[in-house]
Amino acid sequence: TVMVGKRVRSRKKWRRVVRVLRDLEEACETTVGRLRQVVDAMAVEMHAGLASEGGSKLKMLLTFVDNLPTGCEKGTYYALDLGGTNLRVLRVQLGGERSPNLDQDVESQPIPEHLKNGTMEDLFDFIASSLQQFSERKENGSGQSQLMRELGFTFSFPMKQTSVSSGILIKWTKGFAIENMVGREIAGCLQQALTRRGLNMRVAALVNDSVGTLALGHYHDADTVAAVILGTGTNACYLERTDAIIKSQGLLTTSGGMVVNMEWGSFWSSHLPRTSYDIELDADSRNPNDQGFEKMISGMYLGDIVRRVILKISQETDVFGPVSSKLLTPFTLWADSVAAMHEDDSPELTEVARILKRDLEIQDVSLKVRKLVLRICDVVTRRAARLVAAGIVGILKKIGRDGSGGSTGGRSRSDANIRRTVVAIEGSLYTGYAMFREYLHEALTEILGEDMAQHVVLRPVEDGPGIGAALLAASQSTQTVDSVQ
Ligand code: GLC
Repeated sequence: TVMVGKRVRSRKKWRRVVRVLRDLEEACETTVGRLRQVVDAMAVEMHAGLASEGGSKLKMLLTFVDNLPTGCEKGTYYALDLGGTNLRVLRVQLGGERSPNLDQDVESQPIPEHLKNGTMEDLFDFIASSLQQFSERKENGSGQSQLMRELGFTFSFPMKQTSVSSGILIKWTKGFAIENMVGREIAGCLQQALTRRGLNMRVAALVNDSVGTLALGHYHDADTVAAVILGTGTNACYLERTDAIIKSQGLLTTSGGMVVNMEWGSFWSSHLPRTSYDIELDADSRNPNDQGFEKMISGMYLGDIVRRVILKISQETDVFGPVSSKLLTPFTLWADSVAAMHEDDSPELTEVARILKRDLEIQDVSLKVRKLVLRICDVVTRRAARLVAAGIVGILKKIGRDGSGGSTGGRSRSDANIRRTVVAIEGSLYTGYAMFREYLHEALTEILGEDMAQHVVLRPVEDGPGIGAALLAASQSTQTVDSVQ
């Protein structure tokens, strides 16, 4: 009878586990019908955001980038890429002809946690000193250290730009919270820090990471019209016609177009499949009620959704053992851990066990429980990847490239008149997480249909934000080509 009692208790316990899992799956449901609603909502919000300032949660920010790199850029340029997790410093040498392999030096270091909510001076001093050390190493002995260098600065946060080389911080995202910086002009802050250190450099381009990525994508492939970031945060930008940017009437550019930084992380729609975990995560974040789309998708949050589901099960059953303090701490599980667990194909799921122990202090769980964790990762990641696919199709729809016939007046389309469309992609969620990538491609094909999907290419571009910023600095450069040689 003891055995029978045990078995009954175990069955009851697992019934509870299964219920939590089923509820999660149901709440995360992304049928193709629902994804199409998200596509439509994205396109509608894009229109609204372009129509008037504050017309949508999508900010649809002007970037003043009206020409994308062509390959003719020439000279030596530096770039700083302040992402959500790392600071990358780059030096790029451009030969004046498009080259598949750009001549570049890159150094990367993690942004110390205390700088993300410290003072403005400390942050910019860290950036300037990293650049100084890097440039001294690079220029030493070349006899060129006295030359004025032009710099592209990738600042991956929402900015209201006033020109291609200046912009005001609108708000912080991705866990940054430095006081007194909202409303400040960013290029000026950097320029002051550079001058304080005696660095002979000029900020020639101030760009969002998505914009840098589009620039590099376009440099490699002229069919590139949009870019998506899938890293710590998520965002997209694309090339828009200026006459469609109603909110800045009279805006004229030589090309008739301008890159628009969507800031799609803050997209919201009632069609998004939101769970109780998302609601709790939002409440615990540094920016509640904001960046709703980003919090369902990007690297900073994906793991925390998984953690919350495990926590919920731990509170209802003992399958994970005692609740550890790490399991109770928000934002302890990162997306790279989720990827590693999800892609564990060992028979005993030893990687899952190792990460549960290392990241969440969950000890020695059975294979059945490890499989459960894998399933949770799958559900959460699949939802994220499919929502990205819907977002991308939303952009294609807005610019008449989704094959729905908007731009051909509803006439039946033939393969011959469908243009090839390239979307540049950057970020470890895409490049370092095969399951995420697969789910994204699968959903793209489901939404667009196989025929149309063939014309849409997602192209990963390595170091897009940084190299792209250098390219934009080059095309904005006020110096003559010869003087920087
Ligand atoms: C956040 C930022 C956005 C950036 C994205 C990806 O969403 O607000 O500017 O592009 O993260 O880094």
